[in-house]
Amino acid sequence: MQNRPQAMIIGTGAAVPEKTLTNRDFETMVDTSNEWIRARTGMEVRHVVGPDEQNSDLAAAAALKALESAGLTAVDVDLIIVATISGDSGFPSTACFVQKKIGAVNAAALDIGAACAGFIYGLDLADSYIALGKAKHVLVIGSEVLSRITDYSDRNTCVLFGDGAGAAVLAPSDGERGILGTFIKSDGRLSELLYIEGLGTKIPPSHQSVDERKHFIRMAGREVFKYAVKAMGDSAEEILMRTGLDNAAVDLLISHQANLRIIEATARRINLPAERVFINIEKYGNTSSASIPLALDEAVRSGRIQPGQLLVLVAFGAGFTWGSAAIRY
Ligand code: UT7
Repeated sequence: MQNRPQAMIIGTGAAVPEKTLTNRDFETMVDTSNEWIRARTGMEVRHVVGPDEQNSDLAAAAALKALESAGLTAVDVDLIIVATISGDSGFPSTACFVQKKIGAVNAAALDIGAACAGFIYGLDLADSYIALGKAKHVLVIGSEVLSRITDYSDRNTCVLFGDGAGAAVLAPSDGERGILGTFIKSDGRLSELLYIEGLGTKIPPSHQSVDERKHFIRMAGREVFKYAVKAMGDSAEEILMRTGLDNAAVDLLISHQANLRIIEATARRINLPAERVFINIEKYGNTSSASIPLALDEAVRSGRIQPGQLLVLVAFGAGFTWGSAAIRY
């Protein structure tokens, strides 16, 4: 438990591609309906990249906006952490491509593969680096191009995912505001409920692997749903317990946006009324590691988050990975 925050968010940014896919678009692609998607997920629109847009383009755009709002430039950054499961290429890290695109010549750069919980994992790492004095300005970015690893013939998954990026700049705390605590956890025994079997070195790309569509996301939705509801509720309770905060003090819950019903169940676990829960799933779908920083940036820029307010961030994703953070903004 931390009494005084060590690191604080001093700027946020976001970027999504222009092109969109609506629920109606999916009606022409697979056996689904606008009504089913809205009722079962809360989603309406997702953004998807065009042929010339890359993950690192979205990440760099979000990063530059975050730096601008922090009053910094790229040369001030010591560490770039990109949380992603849909990086530009096998290697090097997408963070290195972002470094090149924004000109962060003084930074070290690395990716985190913690799926939808990646931004929370990134915050946890950034907080630790700053607390130890090993970095002053850290860019934490969640960025995904899930449209390129989505099977648009599989109705169980294709309606769910969107592309986008969100970023936060972290710096040493002013002593009052900042990250009050973080919690991260994983359970690798459940990895095959949500994964891509191919794309790695276990099944190198081949005509056969492509024919068998092994390079696409597969998810046992109903199972994942059950674990997500439990782990996200547990994570929300855990972070309140670790920081000694009362749920009544929480001004805003910013949850990973995978399913409206999961977000509502998480809010119920810590007794938060609807007006203290941020929801933008209808505009972006599930953008994995980008969903929390996209929501955070929107809430900050719209004035929904005011300085000094208490935020609880909660996420759950493939791995399984999950976690939470409490932030005095
Ligand atoms: O982001 C990381 C973690 N991911 C999550 O947290 C996602 C967790 N899972 C979910 O959000 C939900 O399980 C889904 C939205 C994926 C599915 O909703 P569900 O209420 O759990 O539906 P289901 O999988 O139990 O399927 C119910 C029915 C099935 O038909 P039968 O077998 O009952 O005849 C599915 O085939 O709905 C069918 N179905 C669809 N129908 C129309 C599945 N996808 C669709 C679709 N349109 N797109």
